[in-house]
Amino acid sequence: MKILAFESSCDDTCVAIVEDGRRVLSSCVSSQTDTHALYGGVVPEIASRMHTEAISRLCRMALSEAGLTLSDIDAIAVTYAPGLIGALLVGLSFAKGLASTLGVPLIPVHHVRAHVAAAYLAFPELEPPFVALACSGGTTAFIHVEDYTRFRFLGGTRDDAAGEAFDKVGRVLGLPYPAGAAMDRLAADGNDRAFEFPHPTFADAPLDCSFSGLKTAVINSVHNLRQKGIEPSAADLSASFCRTVSEMLVPRLMRAAEETGCSTVCVGGGVAANSVLRRDLERACRDAGLRLCIPPLSYCGDNAAMVGCLGYYEFLAGHTAAADLNAYATMSLSTEEA
Ligand code: KG4
Repeated sequence: MKILAFESSCDDTCVAIVEDGRRVLSSCVSSQTDTHALYGGVVPEIASRMHTEAISRLCRMALSEAGLTLSDIDAIAVTYAPGLIGALLVGLSFAKGLASTLGVPLIPVHHVRAHVAAAYLAFPELEPPFVALACSGGTTAFIHVEDYTRFRFLGGTRDDAAGEAFDKVGRVLGLPYPAGAAMDRLAADGNDRAFEFPHPTFADAPLDCSFSGLKTAVINSVHNLRQKGIEPSAADLSASFCRTVSEMLVPRLMRAAEETGCSTVCVGGGVAANSVLRRDLERACRDAGLRLCIPPLSYCGDNAAMVGCLGYYEFLAGHTAAADLNAYATMSLSTEEA
């Protein structure tokens, strides 16, 4: 079954074709990063407009790369939540129009669940159940993937996402948006013990975490040093920040695996690219005897292949939508509450 998939929840226009949920026939991404970098973050109105300008071209490109025409497409999958509402509506409207014209099923896909499903693309034999960390610019969540289409939110950030904290701290260091990858590179030459930042915990919810306080602590440290005429080392600060983020995420993910009895751990989302996090995850999983699955970078960031992948399993579960399908800026990660 060939699914044509669309993703436009933030600042990347993505179109892909995926066969039977696992085989990527094409995956095209048009990034808007350079435009939003001028403003230090994503400007929703600009994102929507740029999606509108790019989506037809990208759709043609995805078909041509796969060597297919629209008549070969069996279903359309589309991210409908969560995300920037105007941005989501571009992909959703385009997908609805195509599904109706072609007379094929329309499959709604949850963006964060799709980030988790990206692991299926890189690990062909991977099957649920497993625990996952979805960690991007908009989300930081620990999830029990009970089945292909049954997700249970175990805990996560109570405020900012980890990627958002990287981007805000990077801005104070004078790095362009998005700053995560640049801080990762800087961290390689820094002293990760140069700064100690707070690790907030929640007694009533041990898997919950907070990045807002961490972000403020880092920004205050920078301002304090600058007031004394000292320019903090961007490398030391990045290294200390990466260590702190990893110390917040890795033990919680190990705990989630223990609590659910899962022996496989998957990580998705842009922050999964972080070298310190990857190194610490590899070590922790080895020590705990867990299998670790992190997709390649092309499937960690936003892409539509992950939407085509999860869309296939949603289709098998009978989860298709009518033409009145709407987009939603927020939506629970847990399937029962959706
Ligand atoms: O998943 P993604 O591409 O987009 C969504 O937010 O959905 O994630 C983007 C986020 C940005 O905040 C970016 O700074 C962060 O991922 N990021 C990283 C790295 N590469 C990207 N954060 C830390 N280390 C990296 N190597």
